[in-house]
Amino acid sequence: MKIAVLPGDGIGPETTRVALSVLAVAGDVYGFSAEVTEHPFGGNAIDSHNDPFPAETRAALPLADAVLKGAVGGPKWDTGEIRPEQGLLALRAELKVFANIRPIRQWTKKIASPLRDELVDGLDMIIIRELTGGLYFGPKELTTETGMDTCRYSVDEVERVARYAFELARTRRGKVCSVDKQNVLSSSKLWRNVVVERVAPDYPDVELSHQLVDSMAMKLIEQPLAYDVIVTENMFGDILSDLAASVSGGIGLAPSSSLGSARPGLYEAIHGSAPDIAGKGIANPTAMILTVAMMLRDLDQTEAANAIEAAAIHCLEHGPTTPDLGGSATTDEVGAAIAALIQNREVTA
Ligand code: NAD
Ligand code: IPM
Ligand code: MN
Repeated sequence: MKIAVLPGDGIGPETTRVALSVLAVAGDVYGFSAEVTEHPFGGNAIDSHNDPFPAETRAALPLADAVLKGAVGGPKWDTGEIRPEQGLLALRAELKVFANIRPIRQWTKKIASPLRDELVDGLDMIIIRELTGGLYFGPKELTTETGMDTCRYSVDEVERVARYAFELARTRRGKVCSVDKQNVLSSSKLWRNVVVERVAPDYPDVELSHQLVDSMAMKLIEQPLAYDVIVTENMFGDILSDLAASVSGGIGLAPSSSLGSARPGLYEAIHGSAPDIAGKGIANPTAMILTVAMMLRDLDQTEAANAIEAAAIHCLEHGPTTPDLGGSATTDEVGAAIAALIQNREVTA
């Protein structure tokens, strides 16, 4: 398999490097070889190419079976005319990855949630965030007097991501919650109409509910166990998934995949470049390692994916862990522990 790696900025390269070492060990043990190529992307690419998404990186993507991306951005590029984040939006658009799959799980009871135990016992939901439309991609304008972003959705954009959610729900507990703000926004009125009229009738076996985004933030704190598959607009999904990741035990544990109708998919942790801890060697690599597991599952390396996930969970339960989880291990030590568990086949899923 060919993997195009975009290491990114801040803790991006630190966590990606460790995730790649876990991928290599899994390849040895489970009999596949990952041909990894690295490409400039994000803030470092602004420095080297004056472009967060250089042409040479763009050209490499169609050759890959999957794109693995570390977080991008940081204070160095916050005030420049071109931002790393623009490159990220261009990348998602280029790959046409309209469905961002963000699993939110209680990986183990050993990891504390900020919520009471009984509120998160067995937590297992998937947030599907629409990723190539909405407020991020509508017409924009910035003058010295006004700033404007436009939230625009077409029927097709809503329908394809909603169908993805219903299909996924069928493989799980059969529940979809669609989140919008249809009491105010036209884009949300369209969203809800499409979900109700064009998609739900094809899935009578799936239980559909709707929640306005503001009260959804409340519900995710008060009763996160009520949810199975959540599907929502780009920016709502961005915000709710950080909240939900925290509820599940921390942003350092939350992986994601971004999928379109063809390969390559894009695989990225949901956390950012964490400028406050970058360079210290203490970032939690678990989110990126679980992201590699999602990637391998999509590339039909199910056994390897299961082993990586089981090893990561074992490490959360028995240590070592990084300081965000109360431990004192480094990024490398956690990666090495997970790799050793896989190498020695000490855990099986
Ligand atoms: P952040 O996710 O980078 O950090 C928020 C907090 O979580 C920080 O305290 C950080 O130390 C902590 N944290 C995040 N990941 C961690 C990990 N793996 N281990 C331990 N602690 C971790 O969010 P932010 O500070 O709002 O954003 C920083 C930069 O990252 C910004 O430039 C933003 O645009 C960018 N960003 C990039 C991506 C991406 O590339 N996918 C995602 C989100 C944010
Ligand atoms: C994420 C990030 C990005 C987003 C930023 C860095 C553009 O927050 O992947 O969640 O908002 O999509
Ligand atoms: Mn985000």
